[in-house]
Amino acid sequence: MSFYINQRRLRANEHIRDLASEVTLHVKEFIQPIFIDETLSKRSGSPTMTNVFSETIESALRQTELDLKAGVSKFLFFPVPKDRFDTTFSFDFAVRCIETLKENFGNDIWIATDLCLCSYTSHGHCGVLNRNQDKVLNNETVQILAQYALLLAEAGADCIAPSDMMDSRVRAIREKLNENNLSDVAIMSYSAKFASNFYGPFRDVCKSSPAKDLKITNRKTYQMDFRNGGDAITSSLRDLKEGADILMVKPALPYLDILTKLRQQTTAPIAVYHVSGEYAAIELLAKNNLIDADLGHLEIWTAFKRAGASAIISYKAREAMRVIG
Ligand code: PBG
Repeated sequence: MSFYINQRRLRANEHIRDLASEVTLHVKEFIQPIFIDETLSKRSGSPTMTNVFSETIESALRQTELDLKAGVSKFLFFPVPKDRFDTTFSFDFAVRCIETLKENFGNDIWIATDLCLCSYTSHGHCGVLNRNQDKVLNNETVQILAQYALLLAEAGADCIAPSDMMDSRVRAIREKLNENNLSDVAIMSYSAKFASNFYGPFRDVCKSSPAKDLKITNRKTYQMDFRNGGDAITSSLRDLKEGADILMVKPALPYLDILTKLRQQTTAPIAVYHVSGEYAAIELLAKNNLIDADLGHLEIWTAFKRAGASAIISYKAREAMRVIG
């Protein structure tokens, strides 16, 4: 080791640290998830995620106005409809939400809608089940999702974000949109989405856990096995070929290796989703005075950027401007 190498010179003060830093965060790269719940008459806070709310359409409008003031203009919308279905679905509520948000904010906001059936099905799986109730049907689900995507796009969604993890859904959605003169609507595919244990708080909010009395009680037959990182790369590259515009790695922190590898294999934008359980973990540390929540998030967001993320989906996006400083 050379006598002249002295790394502490680069750490000596704020100025030189700024110059030496490889990444800079900006609020414009953040996407804020929003939940709108048809059963509510007033907004309600998540019991496990601090500062995360299930909104009514009216409260969502008020919140969006505040978010725009806080520099956040990109949203990932999750509808929580009041009715549950098995084979035939109504997507009216989600459509109404998008229409209302777009009527009020137009192109000041960019709104991606999560495309999945788990908040719609009576059993909580992300697709329709076979008669024996032991299998999530791929093609039948894809057909329903493509139709749903069309309705959302017609309502004004800027982006469709399929999170169901059926095979070939991106192709079906892209074809459906293009056939209907909606080729400008983007697709952000949950292309590397693992069957993770970190989705718990989200499923509480969306009432979307698979029912306990089913033959299949987890999502392992459609979401990725976390021992198989290669699947995430293969599926992501496939989704690009099928017409995805933005890829996604989800959850985030336990999958930075996937993010880095994917970054090396494509020039496509990659969003990273810091999911509900990851978010709640930091909030719980903070509640116990074991971490400064803002600084914890800042450090993790920086890691996402360093690993190659183009966009960050965070429940704290609306605080990003303040946190980044
Ligand atoms: C829908 C969906 C889930 C999440 C995003 N879209 C839950 C799941 O797959 O069970 C999780 C997001 C989070 O935990 O923050 N399929």
